Amino acid sequence: MIRQVALQSPTLAAREDALVLPLYKGKKLSSGSARIDRAFGSVATLLMSDGFTADRGETRMASVKRGRRLLHTILLGLGDASQATPEDMADAAGAAAKVLLAHRVPSAAIYLDDAFAGSSLDAGEITHAFVKAFGLACHQLKPRPGARLSRLSLRTSMSARTLTPAVSRARLLVDSIVQVRNWVNTPGNEMNPASFTAAAKRTLTGGGVTCRVLTRAQIEAEGMNGVLAVGVGSREEPRFLVAEHALAKKSWPLVCLIGKGVTFDSGGLSIKPWEKMNEMKSDMAGAASVIAAMTMAAELEIPVRLVALAPCVENMPDGSAFRPGDVIKLASGKTVEVLSTDAEGRLILADAVAYARKHYQPSLIVDMATLTGGVLIALGTRVAGIMGNSQRDLDDMRVAGDRSGEPVWQLPLDERFVSMIKGDVSDYKNYGGRNASVITAAALIGTSAGTTPWVHIDIAGTSWNDGSGASYQSRGATGYGVDLLLRFLEIVAARA
Ligand code: BES
Ligand code: ZN
Ligand code: MN
Repeated sequence: MIRQVALQSPTLAAREDALVLPLYKGKKLSSGSARIDRAFGSVATLLMSDGFTADRGETRMASVKRGRRLLHTILLGLGDASQATPEDMADAAGAAAKVLLAHRVPSAAIYLDDAFAGSSLDAGEITHAFVKAFGLACHQLKPRPGARLSRLSLRTSMSARTLTPAVSRARLLVDSIVQVRNWVNTPGNEMNPASFTAAAKRTLTGGGVTCRVLTRAQIEAEGMNGVLAVGVGSREEPRFLVAEHALAKKSWPLVCLIGKGVTFDSGGLSIKPWEKMNEMKSDMAGAASVIAAMTMAAELEIPVRLVALAPCVENMPDGSAFRPGDVIKLASGKTVEVLSTDAEGRLILADAVAYARKHYQPSLIVDMATLTGGVLIALGTRVAGIMGNSQRDLDDMRVAGDRSGEPVWQLPLDERFVSMIKGDVSDYKNYGGRNASVITAAALIGTSAGTTPWVHIDIAGTSWNDGSGASYQSRGATGYGVDLLLRFLEIVAARA
């Protein structure tokens, strides 16, 4: 864990164990980097000559002995300066962090001036990407013993005052994402709707956020029969988390964030095959990211009114479980026939969207959910799928995805897809067939949104790293979506 991040001038001596020299493709080492290189043993030129091409994420390391200390220098390739994105920058930075972690190096200086020069990104974005990637790379699924990277010194001739906000934001973000990862990695026997919402409430409360958790009886009174039905097969009763922030600021836009909180998804009676069913402990990743984003948005004082909602259930098969063929009346008043009890997320989210509209009349609803296996097939593990009814908000989500390094891609959602879930015995059915399954799942949630602007984010692919993830992601939960939501809220606040 990184405990200290300092911004310092580039000429200081080697007080750290390692020096990281980031470099764009085709660029020479600057005079500034040559100076700091001398302090760390003058090995950069040697490393450059070792076939180093500065491809993004490429690293070269050499170490020299200085008295009783070992000093390491790592050249880090950043790829093309004119095409750098926050995601690429963080991915490259993470590669250097991994080298330091592998060698159990406790402290490092990172020389940033060469990364700033001629880049398509501004210095704040680059600094943010480095601090974020180094912080996140330190989080390991199974921590190994030994010395750990704990101290960073960012060396730059840029004024500390311009870069401090980026450093602080990135450090908050790292803590927040690590929190999400830990929640999402927690197995189902250690996390149920009651314990998850209790932990979430502890995180949320304070800093102007108020939070309450609805019990089963209250969920029933609200007519959220989708939540009740999905949860009824589990001994663990459902919960519904409601958090509010700055609602009195009537001139600010009111955004409602909704996260899918299935603490374990066995599929219910439409039970899943055993392979990878263990990964379904991660089916509350949407709720976790929404809760973390809400907490951080309040800390950062982003000028938006916020409501976070998380329907939390465990989806289990049991003598009392809901069944295929059951018809459920959702909080929207619409009826749905259950074709698969494994298509549970859309039922609880449709209820939550209806609850949001009834109680808050928000200017915008965003839901985030590990909704479909289809999105993993369509977009893989690095890009989330977005759909909705408001093109301006979808466009802004695209921009937020690029800025955060958590990219999204829009899929179409219109009447053609709603017609695929029209019911035979009810208004709708909860499964529209294999075709366009990502979209028809979203379409059911959309039936509750009506005319309220709504964006749905399917994170079933991006919330979990099977090994194909970014350099700074550990295996398992990624914490994807926190920065995306924050960037989006910043855009919404700025356009208001
Ligand atoms: N939680 C799953 C989606 C999921 C799949 C998340 C893989 C993460 C990784 C969701 O509840 C689900 O089961 N979806 C099914 C629905 C289908 C059976 C109608 C799907 O998309 O396969
Ligand atoms: Zn699920
Ligand atoms: Mn399911």
